[in-house]
Amino acid sequence: MNLTLKIWRQKGANDKGKIVDYPITEVSPDMSFLEMLDVLNQELIEKGEEPVAFDHDCREGICGSCSMFVNGQAHGPDSMVTVCQLHMRSFKDGDTIFIEPWRATAFPVIKDLIVDRSAFDRIQQAGGFISVNTSGNTQDANAIPIDKHDADTAFDAATCIGCGACVASCKNSSAMLFVSAKVSQFALLPQGKVEATDRVLNMVKQMDDEGFGNCTNTGACEVECPKGISLENIARMNREYLSASLKG
Ligand code: SF4
Ligand code: FES
Repeated sequence: MNLTLKIWRQKGANDKGKIVDYPITEVSPDMSFLEMLDVLNQELIEKGEEPVAFDHDCREGICGSCSMFVNGQAHGPDSMVTVCQLHMRSFKDGDTIFIEPWRATAFPVIKDLIVDRSAFDRIQQAGGFISVNTSGNTQDANAIPIDKHDADTAFDAATCIGCGACVASCKNSSAMLFVSAKVSQFALLPQGKVEATDRVLNMVKQMDDEGFGNCTNTGACEVECPKGISLENIARMNREYLSASLKG
């Protein structure tokens, strides 16, 4: 396939940035989207030009770092996949493909397609954990009976990979889907109940402090989430927040 790539190039946080055209030839439909970018970067390096900066790690849909817009859609045109799982067979010979970074105040661009998602780390640090005694006397997890539906729902929430597509797709740049997944994975389990009150209050406060917008129930986050995180988690977090506020 021969394609035209229109890629956002931005030298650094304070650079204005612009779309630059790159023709690319002989792209195999079996290549992943990131492999196609690797080929482009190899060509740019050989020509003495600066390669396109993009984030990646696992390349199998579990680390959440390969976040970018492809033709205006978070993680591209295929549903329930990350960019590293997107393949060039999803495009046609002669296509023009726009490739841009996430756009959100709380995710400032570092360079080209890489944005700073450390706001998510700070939200996690505010309460996305349980305190466990690891001195050697830890109770066997299987000794605590847990309702099957609760265990499955907690597991589903825990599949959030922190990619930020929910924020990037939301007209308000809201992080509610991400934060609610992180709250839900603990709220449903006995191990998470000990710190539940502080967790939801602290994580929501940190989310607001980071500059994410409010949720107005548009639902774009759920549609674009590569892990199918459900809006039900936002409803659960709102209930947890209300109950914690009344206690606090
Ligand atoms: S909720 Fe979905 S879109 Fe948002 S960070 Fe988690 S995996 Fe990514
Ligand atoms: S590189 Fe890890 S999810 Fe894409």
